[in-house]
Amino acid sequence: MKVFITGGTGFVGRTLIESLSAERHRIVLLTRHPEKASFPENVEVIGGDPTEPGPWQEKAVLCEAAVNLAGASIFTRWSNRAKERILNSRVFTTQNLVDSFDRKKSRTKLLINASAVGFYGSRGDEELDETSPPGNDFLAGVTRDWEGEAEKAENYGVRVIRCRFGIVLGKHGGALATMVRPFRFGVGASFGSGKQWFSWIHERDLARILLFLIDKKDPAGPINAAAPHPVQNRELAKTIGRVLHRPVWPSVPGFVLKLYLGEFAESLLTGQKVLPKKLTRAGFRFEYPLLEEALQDLLGKNKGKE
Ligand SMILES: NC(=O)c1ccc[n+]([C@@H]2O[C@H](COP(=O)([O-])OP(=O)(O)OC[C@H]3O[C@@H](n4cnc5c(N)ncnc54)[C@H](OP(=O)(O)O)[C@@H]3O)[C@@H](O)[C@H]2O)c1
Repeated sequence: MKVFITGGTGFVGRTLIESLSAERHRIVLLTRHPEKASFPENVEVIGGDPTEPGPWQEKAVLCEAAVNLAGASIFTRWSNRAKERILNSRVFTTQNLVDSFDRKKSRTKLLINASAVGFYGSRGDEELDETSPPGNDFLAGVTRDWEGEAEKAENYGVRVIRCRFGIVLGKHGGALATMVRPFRFGVGASFGSGKQWFSWIHERDLARILLFLIDKKDPAGPINAAAPHPVQNRELAKTIGRVLHRPVWPSVPGFVLKLYLGEFAESLLTGQKVLPKKLTRAGFRFEYPLLEEALQDLLGKNKGKE
């Protein structure tokens, strides 16, 4: 199949492209910086800014499936300008991609739109599946608007999957590198109460989920792409410490995090317990359902399953 990808130069996109290539799919990748992109031969790199309409839209619709990953990083201090960039980069990209399906020659039948478990907002111990309503903080608002734009592709006969990623744990980049740094220096700790839930996914399982959704004919709507065993923040810190053989200190108080990180700290001090109900029901099998195994693979000495 020919798959169009926005944001494919990023952390998630690179692993996905490897997996798609291994399955012999052809890929058209849109990037704002084609001069920097180096990919295998089955990847056609095209230049363009997805937040603006452009000639790239003609190429997009020649693909049977589209995976929309583009978006400015949220891992930053949330100034008003940063918040605007986080929202607009996602909403405008999705609007332009969806607008491109309104062409007679469009061959696109499937849109997998990235979203995030942040959709559910801060929810204490509540178990959340795809039927749970959205939260009401900044990230919940961003994902709601982002998903709302993606849903409009249904008007053009496109099957739309709103794929709510957990925090993606991977070897090269993403949140894990930042999370483990203090542990490597021997000063790792949990945050705030330590009771907030952390819904995560191993990068290879996420790529496998995206391939599973491309291959299957029926899944649609929201899909939680998070491992079936989320953990509380305190357990997360203990597990990182155990895998790295490093001490774990008492929790960093919430006000200290807020001082350094501003509003972004809220996303570390609160969380959500998200379950992948639809994937489990559809028969998807996680290679890394448990955090300790995932971290052993990514950080431990026996990086076994590769
Ligand atoms: N990583 C996670 O833990 C996680 C969790 C939940 C949801 N997600 C979502 O999944 C998607 C992919 O995540 P990722 O970690 O792979 O992100 P990433 O590494 O930051 O890559 C995102 C890509 O989006 C493009 N991009 C960045 N800023 C942009 C802007 N202002 N306007 C338009 N395009 C821009 C870039 O592509 P070019 O520079 O090549 O154009 C970049 O490679 C993101 O939308 C993210 O919100 C990620």
